[in-house]
Amino acid sequence: MDAPLSVRARGIGTCFGDVVALDGVDLDVPPGRVHGLVGPNGAGKTTLLGLLLGLAVADSGRLEILGTPVGRGLTAPDGVAGFVDGPGLYPSLTARQNLAALAALRGDRRTRRIGEVLDEVGLTDVADDRVRGFSLGMRQRLGLAAALLAEPRLLVLDEPFNGLDPAGKRHVHGVLGRLAADGVAVVLSGHRMDDLEALCDEITILATGRVAFRGPLAELASADRELDHRLRTSDAPAARRLAADTAGVRLVGDAGPRRGAADAIVVRARTPALDDLVTRLVRAGVAVRELTPVVSPLEAAFLALTAPRKDAG
Ligand SMILES: Nc1ncnc2c1ncn2[C@@H]1O[C@H](COP(=O)(O)OP(=O)(O)OP(=O)(O)O)[C@@H](O)[C@H]1O
Ligand SMILES: [Mg+2]
Repeated sequence: MDAPLSVRARGIGTCFGDVVALDGVDLDVPPGRVHGLVGPNGAGKTTLLGLLLGLAVADSGRLEILGTPVGRGLTAPDGVAGFVDGPGLYPSLTARQNLAALAALRGDRRTRRIGEVLDEVGLTDVADDRVRGFSLGMRQRLGLAAALLAEPRLLVLDEPFNGLDPAGKRHVHGVLGRLAADGVAVVLSGHRMDDLEALCDEITILATGRVAFRGPLAELASADRELDHRLRTSDAPAARRLAADTAGVRLVGDAGPRRGAADAIVVRARTPALDDLVTRLVRAGVAVRELTPVVSPLEAAFLALTAPRKDAG
């Protein structure tokens, strides 16, 4: 028999007064997988992560964490650790003391493990500095260390990459990747598709509390939608004329000096129409110097899926 899913959510609904924060959300996360939640501000990411951490109970739907159904009472499910809305830390204590306090609350006296998790997140050098003086990125790393200390089988992190510099991100990616390889399920939220692309097996895009997409990132990027492309050629006026005259291609404008060169235009089209345009340009003796999406296909898919619906109230 297969191991139970680390998270199994069906038809989850949560309201705050009149505000529907989550509306019929399903989520499956197997052990050893990293699942990313994305969506515009207010989409419901933090609300959903809070349910996984036992910080709130859904109004409707069924939720199973590590094979155990979550009841109506507010209890932190066993084997789950993480944070939402930034890690809770004691500013007047040092990093090491913060972790010792958390471990003591759980009745765990293994001080060696504290040194290990501090090392794992790269905070050994500042382990005895007060958290009051920590940067946002250092606090995020300490929050991750606190979660690791509990040796969770499900790790839940709300925007863990906020404030991390590129080296810090790479470091945290490494830590999360190793945890997943050890069988830990990780559910995290983020706003940057490139962070998620580097890490997540699957993502869920939430838009106003509903699932707008669920699946591997590659599937999201491969959908052939109309994308804006920057087209640089040897003859911009000719390119403009041909673009206007090619079926399925819309001339969106000139790229302008800020986007690069005066010899570039921006066209909106699906791939087959772009192919037509390039073929026609070359036939007309116009050299194609560059053809690149203005925003990444992932970013474009995200924007298309989360755009406010025109029919919405
Ligand atoms: N405690 C609360 N009381 C009232 N409304 C709330 C509460 N928490 C969340 N909401 C509302 O629920 C919706 C979802 O909020 P949530 O914080 O889950 O979004 P989010 O996707 O995490 O957004 P962000 O990207 O800004 O962090 C929003 O409309 C928000 O205003
Ligand atoms: Mg949030």
